[in-house]
Amino acid sequence: MNHRIHRHGTIDSTSERAFAALVDGSARHGDVHVAQAQTRGRGRLGRAWHSAPGEGLYASLVLLPPRPWPPAALTVAVGLAVLDAVRGLGTDRARLKWPNDVVVPGRDGDAKLSGILVETRGLALDRPHYVVGVGVNVAQRAFPPELLAERPVTSLELEGVRADTETVLQAFLRAVPARLDAITDAPAALARDYAAATGLVDGTRVHVDAGDAPLTGTLCSFDVTAGVRVVDDGGRGHAFPLDIVRSMARDAGSGDV
Ligand code: BTN
Repeated sequence: MNHRIHRHGTIDSTSERAFAALVDGSARHGDVHVAQAQTRGRGRLGRAWHSAPGEGLYASLVLLPPRPWPPAALTVAVGLAVLDAVRGLGTDRARLKWPNDVVVPGRDGDAKLSGILVETRGLALDRPHYVVGVGVNVAQRAFPPELLAERPVTSLELEGVRADTETVLQAFLRAVPARLDAITDAPAALARDYAAATGLVDGTRVHVDAGDAPLTGTLCSFDVTAGVRVVDDGGRGHAFPLDIVRSMARDAGSGDV
C-alpha cells in the first residue's frame, strides 16, 4: 500500500480532513492525515477524543478498496493492526476490547491505550470508501480529570514504552496491509486472532448487548462476516450480525484472559 502522508498542525479532526479530500476528489487509497493536535477529535458513539498537542498519535487512513468490506471485518482488522503495532513496540500485555479498543489490564480495570473510529459516508463516489481514524495515547504522563472520570486510560509512556508518534504511525502502517488482506484471503485467521486478542473464544461465558435486551450466555461462534452466535442460560440460541452488537465482553464471573 502506497502512503501519501499529509501532515497537519492543529486541525479540527484528521478524519474530517480525510473526508474533505474524498469530497474534493484528491484522496487516494492509502492516504494518511496526521495532526499534531485536534480541536474536534471525535470518538465512537459521539464522544470526543482528547487530542493534546504532540502527546498522542492522531491519524486517519483513507481506504478505497475495489469492493466493499463487511464493516465489522474492517473494524476487527484495523483493531488487530493497531494491536500488532503497540505490541511490537513493547506493550505485550495490550489486548482488544469490543469492538476494537486497545486496552491494558490494570488494577482499576482495562485502561484504554488506543481507540479506532471506522467511518464511511454516502458520498457520490463510484467506489467504496472508508476513513479509519486512529488515536493512540503515546507520551501522556497524566490525563485530564474529566477523562479519568469516564474510565481508566493509559499511554505507551505510562506502560514504560518510549516511542514518538511517528514511530507508532509507521508501526501501524506496516501492520495494516496484512490485516486488510486477511478480510478476503483469511477471514478465519482474522476471527481466530481477534478471539485470542479479546478472550472471546468459543465456549466463553459472555455478556452481549445487541438487539433489544442484553443477555448472558455461552459464545458458540464468532465469524467476521456471519456474526456471533450465543446460547443463553435458558438454552435458546441467538444470532447477531456484528454491526448490531453494541458491546460484548467476557462475563465478569469467568475470570481473566
Ligand atoms: C474511540 O472512541 O475509541 C475512537 C477514537 C478515535 C480517535 C481518532 S484520533 C484521529 C481520528 N480523528 C478523529 O477525529 N478521530 C480519530
